[in-house]
Amino acid sequence: MSQEEILEFLKEVHHPAKDDRDIVELGMVQAVDIADGAVTVTLGFPKQRDPLKKYILGATQATLIRHLGKGVKTEVKEVEIDSPAPKKGNEFTKETLLSVKHIIGVASGKGGVGKSTVAVNLAVALARLGYKVGLADADVYGPSVPVMTGTEDERPTAEEINGKDYITPVEKFGVKWISIGYFADKGQALVWRGPMASNALKQLVLQTNWGPLDFLLIDMPPGTGDIHISLVQEIGIEGAVIVTTPQTVALADVEKGVNMFRLESVGKPVFGLIENMAWFTPEEHPDEKYFIFGKDGGAKMAEVLGIPLLGRIPLVQGIRESGDAGEPVALGSRPDGVAFVELAGRLADTVKCKTLEDR
Ligand SMILES: Nc1ncnc2c1ncn2[C@@H]1O[C@H](COP(=O)(O)OP(=O)(O)OP(=O)(O)O)[C@@H](O)[C@H]1O
Ligand SMILES: [Mg+2]
Repeated sequence: MSQEEILEFLKEVHHPAKDDRDIVELGMVQAVDIADGAVTVTLGFPKQRDPLKKYILGATQATLIRHLGKGVKTEVKEVEIDSPAPKKGNEFTKETLLSVKHIIGVASGKGGVGKSTVAVNLAVALARLGYKVGLADADVYGPSVPVMTGTEDERPTAEEINGKDYITPVEKFGVKWISIGYFADKGQALVWRGPMASNALKQLVLQTNWGPLDFLLIDMPPGTGDIHISLVQEIGIEGAVIVTTPQTVALADVEKGVNMFRLESVGKPVFGLIENMAWFTPEEHPDEKYFIFGKDGGAKMAEVLGIPLLGRIPLVQGIRESGDAGEPVALGSRPDGVAFVELAGRLADTVKCKTLEDR
């Protein structure tokens, strides 16, 4: 049973007062949670009374039972959307980001290239270099930062400052971390409607009490969609780094990633390219390099796109293992850990130079 399947089922529920369109198409499905074999669907209703609310809730429940059988526990919840104007003093602005010097997006055109791995290790490496660092996991669909940092059991606390509730980020390895994953139950899958996802994200970043930071890295979700553009605009990302693998076929994806920041409506610099899985080094032969995805792919891409190649990270078993174990390699002194520290140094220099240039 997957969320996609459940969304398919929910398309059978129609709203008689809205041209008989289905609740998925109408954007009423706010979340589908599957946990421990139970299914919870959350539907959003506008704050104005919808006379058909009871009918829709009942029809949704009936549809779930019809498809899943009585053996699966199902629940249909309702939330009010289009929520009333925020209480005075409870609106979050860029206030918490005023004490952050550089906000940098870690992006890619394509998923699975190692964005989160690079972002987490870069954050740890920047902290090792003495910078004050925070990282926001902007992947609201598949947050991976809690696992990669071994903080999945942490729950950020709230703190009231001047009548507003702020979130205190989780701190570990000298870095402040925040992720939607800290607010969801373990193993619970998250489905959001597009606008809800970007709102949750914006709120998460703006409501976190970051304190003074040199760098705030944003681990962007895969792709180049609306979430990305609103993130850049509303959070005020200064620029981005793009992560890629060396294959020539990845060039088109990298170009998509770079072009997103070069859009007129976005207009932010790309500080550079990071080539991940640049070569393979077997654990037992640390000084051997196998260029299984081709050699110098990243350097060539960087040249074509007119951006610097900030660094190359090898494909080593240890990087994956330490990601799974929540102990980023950038903490250690093995060659792969050192590669991240060098990368962090180059990124910091590039960003600082660029900022001075723009002044
Ligand atoms: N240099 C590397 N060496 C070994 N394993 C790596 C390396 N980089 C990433 N991985 C592994 O590849 C997998 C995908 O990495 P990661 O989750 O960082 O990618 P991502 O781009 O953030 O993915 P998504 O698009 O889903 O957010 C993980 O299991 C990670 O441990
Ligand atoms: Mg990721």
